Amino acid sequence: MPLNPEEFPSKEAFDPHFKWGVSVAAYQIEGAHDADGKGPSIWDVFTSKRGKVLNGDHGNIACDFYHRYTEDIALVKKLNIPNFRFSISWSRILPKGTGEVNPAGIAYYHQLIDECLAKGITPWITLYHWDLPQELEKQGGWTNRKVITWFEEFTRLCITTYGDKVHNWIVMNEPVVFTGAGYFLGLHAPGRRGMSNFLPAIHHATMAIAASARIIRQIKPEANIGTTFSCSYLEPYRNLERDRKAVARVNALLNRLYIEPLLGLGYPVKELPVLKGLQKYILAGDLEQLSFNFDFIGIQNYTREIIKNSWLTPYIGASLIKAEKRKVPITSMKWEVYPEAIYQMIKQFNAYPQIKKLLITENGAAFPDVKKDGHIHDTERLKYLQDNIKQVLRAKEEGYKVDGYFVWTLTDNFEWAEGYHPRFGLVHIDFETQERTIKDSGWWISKFLS
Ligand code: BGC
Repeated sequence: MPLNPEEFPSKEAFDPHFKWGVSVAAYQIEGAHDADGKGPSIWDVFTSKRGKVLNGDHGNIACDFYHRYTEDIALVKKLNIPNFRFSISWSRILPKGTGEVNPAGIAYYHQLIDECLAKGITPWITLYHWDLPQELEKQGGWTNRKVITWFEEFTRLCITTYGDKVHNWIVMNEPVVFTGAGYFLGLHAPGRRGMSNFLPAIHHATMAIAASARIIRQIKPEANIGTTFSCSYLEPYRNLERDRKAVARVNALLNRLYIEPLLGLGYPVKELPVLKGLQKYILAGDLEQLSFNFDFIGIQNYTREIIKNSWLTPYIGASLIKAEKRKVPITSMKWEVYPEAIYQMIKQFNAYPQIKKLLITENGAAFPDVKKDGHIHDTERLKYLQDNIKQVLRAKEEGYKVDGYFVWTLTDNFEWAEGYHPRFGLVHIDFETQERTIKDSGWWISKFLS
């Protein structure tokens, strides 16, 4: 049974500087996809193609956060959440990705930031949460090395425009997901496939993260600069050498590929020889440009994966044993509910002495929520959050570095290729009427953080 606030460790069990927050992303909530001069992004184009997203869902309206941000920031306040992480839609402020600036887009994020500040909520800006301007995709997107300078231009605009008001900057969200799903598997925008797309996208994304962070540092030396990575706790299927080796390969891909070059450790080529193909895209001088001394690193964990050796799977020689087949509790995403995963990931990332601060910048769960008598009793999500927060506390009490926890997410929203079916919010949305209803998990967070 979920715990009552009285039975749950109080937030005082964490140190007073511990950052509690909630995270959202532009394309998943804003809607207003072509309003006030916004240019199209790769997600606008991808969702307009048949068969790409479950039920043909798209983000054209989404949660209409573009128009309803005042109401939604009031909800953040009501939930007593002191930190709000959101992303900037690149093509809302630079409709073509570079060049001409859209004043209405610039004004919009000023209003949003001002609204947060007026309510005493600290804004955390993610520069890139996957919605590349379509104009740039036409020129190759992340496969074109020019993306590094395009991203520098966008960064410069954001930091010079908002840097006086916003202290906390997250350069990029989960590079392995948008390059893997978008440029290797074709499951996310822009829907490209294969190593010839994936490898250049990897190197250009890593270079762009470091380059963007340097620009923020140059323009606002006092800014708090971080970037975020997805991570999965991995265990071998059987206690066999070949499954353990398979885990090492998947670990290199899912958990080490991006963070290690950024920490100055290079790409994990030894465990994942296919990465030798990156050589073709690494130019003279790149290795010196690849790392950055971040103020914090964000990790985002949702589950664990069980890994098996599989010679038939190209490049990686490993496969996942689906949670559904393992007869374990799962979420609407078919991800195993395994709270200890977050503890294990905190431990794993603590092994990098280069990380100064480690924040959980996303954690949460999707379950089918049923509204009854005007209430949403989301007991599974409530228990998931409580169990995960307890694991974070466990890590902290054992002396591991962990400096914050942000829930994914504020409201139900557009869950990428899965459309609106998975509901992750602390707040329920009726997508017909846009009515917001705080779920039991939201009420609990509000008491916990009061
Ligand atoms: C992403 C979010 C996404 C969430 C749940 C993370 O991978 O940053 O955009 O909605 O996980 O899938």
